[in-house]
Amino acid sequence: MSLRLLITGASGLLGQDVYAVARARGHQVTALTRAALDICDPAAVSAAVATAAPDVVVNCAAYTQVDRAESEPEAAHRVNADGAGTVATAAAAAGAWTVHVSTDYVFSGAKASGPYLESDPTGPQTVYGQSKLAGEAAVAAAAPDCHTIVRSAWLYGTGGPCFPGTILDLARRRPELTVVDDQIGSPTYTPHLAAALTELAESRALCGVVHVAGAGAVSWFGFASALLAAAPVCRTGAAGTPGWAAIAPCTSAEHPRPAARPAFSVLASERAGVPVLPDWRSGVAAYMAAWSAQQVAA
Ligand SMILES: NC(=O)c1ccc[n+]([C@@H]2O[C@H](COP(=O)([O-])OP(=O)(O)OC[C@H]3O[C@@H](n4cnc5c(N)ncnc54)[C@H](OP(=O)(O)O)[C@@H]3O)[C@@H](O)[C@H]2O)c1
Repeated sequence: MSLRLLITGASGLLGQDVYAVARARGHQVTALTRAALDICDPAAVSAAVATAAPDVVVNCAAYTQVDRAESEPEAAHRVNADGAGTVATAAAAAGAWTVHVSTDYVFSGAKASGPYLESDPTGPQTVYGQSKLAGEAAVAAAAPDCHTIVRSAWLYGTGGPCFPGTILDLARRRPELTVVDDQIGSPTYTPHLAAALTELAESRALCGVVHVAGAGAVSWFGFASALLAAAPVCRTGAAGTPGWAAIAPCTSAEHPRPAARPAFSVLASERAGVPVLPDWRSGVAAYMAAWSAQQVAA
């Protein structure tokens, strides 16, 4: 059955893929970029929801500058907490379901064994993580019976800046690279996540928090190594030589950031009916195919 979907943050990395997947599955999609709809403006959000009359609102809008959030917590909370609540409030008032995207950064990263499940206690260590956790609470309060909060992790795709794009760019300009090897997570290819979000929107059966991320676990170093191993031969390598940079592991302490990343934030679901994404290595293969096609077209 064709649904009416409203996507916020539609020009973001994930928003673009949700739009593409939902359209491909035959849904009527209203995709609003930040320029078209600021989720911090309650009157504008209500008006946009009234106009689109959606069955489901997929909130892909967020303040995602994890390091910058440490020095501007009000801005992060305004979008990730208040804005998320505003979207869910407007959706619920219009009888629509909210699919809201959250993050592995709601966890401390200190879990001793096994992936993080939905029932595990949260404990964000950063302003960004705190603002996203507050957003989860705001969505649940605004739409108690009609929301799905989807926690995902380590998103990457071809629609904007992300870790693989940065690695591929640096690896063809530098002779060597060091990449953090003591943070473990679940790389998630945005078209895979977009398909799961669309499925959750179609079913509107899972209320509350669900974990949806690329299956398996790897460090940033392992992820970067897999990307470069799958990359086509580089023709503009360092000093004009073909080939990619040499890559070596390093510690988080050697790459300090304003916002400390969780050491371990692998996500898995304990709930029935939650979409299971392909293994992260399948995401790498799909990403490299799409990235290569982009290079040829450019
Ligand atoms: N990236 C990750 O690794 C990751 C991991 C786990 C979860 N997530 C979550 O996944 C979701 C999508 O993230 P993403 O990676 O697609 O991020 P993104 O590329 O930064 O996209 C976020 C979008 O939201 C827009 N936006 C910011 N403030 C807004 C506002 N006030 N009103 C309307 N739109 C606004 C941004 O517009 P501008 O670009 O113009 O600011 C951008 O288009 C977010 O909820 C994020 O927290 C991301």
